[in-house]
Amino acid sequence: MTNVIVTGGAGYIGSHVCKILKKKNINPITIDNLTNGYKSFVKWGPFEKTNLKNYNRLNRIFKKYKPIAVIHLAAKIESEKSVRNPINFYENNISDTITLLKVMEKNNVNKIIFSSSAAVYQIKNKKNFEKDALKPSSPYGFTKLTVENLINDYSKNKKLKYIFLRFFNAAGADSMLEIGERHKDETHLIPLAIDAAYKGKTLKIFGINYKTKDGSAVRDYIHVSDLAISHYLSLKYLIKNNSSQIFNVGFGKGYSVLEIIKLLKKKLNIKYKITKRRKGDNDYLVSNTSKIKKILRFKPTENIHSILDTAINYYKKINGL
Ligand SMILES: NC(=O)c1ccc[n+]([C@@H]2O[C@H](COP(=O)([O-])OP(=O)(O)OC[C@H]3O[C@@H](n4cnc5c(N)ncnc54)[C@H](O)[C@@H]3O)[C@@H](O)[C@H]2O)c1
Repeated sequence: MTNVIVTGGAGYIGSHVCKILKKKNINPITIDNLTNGYKSFVKWGPFEKTNLKNYNRLNRIFKKYKPIAVIHLAAKIESEKSVRNPINFYENNISDTITLLKVMEKNNVNKIIFSSSAAVYQIKNKKNFEKDALKPSSPYGFTKLTVENLINDYSKNKKLKYIFLRFFNAAGADSMLEIGERHKDETHLIPLAIDAAYKGKTLKIFGINYKTKDGSAVRDYIHVSDLAISHYLSLKYLIKNNSSQIFNVGFGKGYSVLEIIKLLKKKLNIKYKITKRRKGDNDYLVSNTSKIKKILRFKPTENIHSILDTAINYYKKINGL
């Protein structure tokens, strides 16, 4: 079976990627230090617990499995934390990627799919195209843009080919509820809202002074299993075409925080209060998805309703409700 390295494979999105790869007869080798992931999420291939910083260990893992490609999802992910502690983010997300690239080169692995983010875009009030201006508003977004730039520079004089997937907001859970969103320090609206509802707590809404239709931040929610499929299609594309690409991966429709709460209120009893705006948050992030539709023939199959249903069902499952 073909081996592919998945960094961050014990995390939320990475575990869904491993599940789809295995279904397609590809053996996913998870590399993760479990700072934000779970060993129990690694169900579809071997697990190598290590920090990406560890060059020698990475080198041994590459020699052992001889992967044909790397799917690089490992990163620190919370924008607000990155404002408070940027060095941590630069070190983990940028320096560790340099180590990974060196090991890839040493082992003649020249295909990488990198999970970038909508956080690279300059703030504006319309859908983002891949060619739009890039201007991250947080150190987290800056780490994603820097890694895009460094992989691109690196690829110019080497055989390396890449696909950058600029994810919008991953949400929902695997339909069989085997895995789902369970970040150790949760910052995402949907799991926070569900948790608050079940615990009878008041959900904090971070500001209604955004430049959007109802004043709350607008995001583009894409089901995590759809996002996982985009990785498989990217891998197939890289193997067949051996050329680099950048794609937005979103649903292509924006929902404001208040709209998501309205939808959740039909299913759960949610109380909320407005607090001050979080640092590093964008007003409006919605994808134009025409490029990935055209080139990879990728079309999300799940909508906001199945996203919310699977998220609620996964929450109930892990909390024994
Ligand atoms: N969740 C989203 O909505 C979203 C949106 C845009 C981009 N992304 C990107 O997608 C990727 C995955 O996000 P996620 O939500 O699954 O996050 P996650 O925290 O669940 O997964 C990341 C995994 O990487 C591991 N990790 C982090 N640094 C590491 C290191 N130095 N060495 C080894 N392992 C390390 C963590 O333990 C974790 O399991 C990230 O790169 C994130 O920036 C996520």
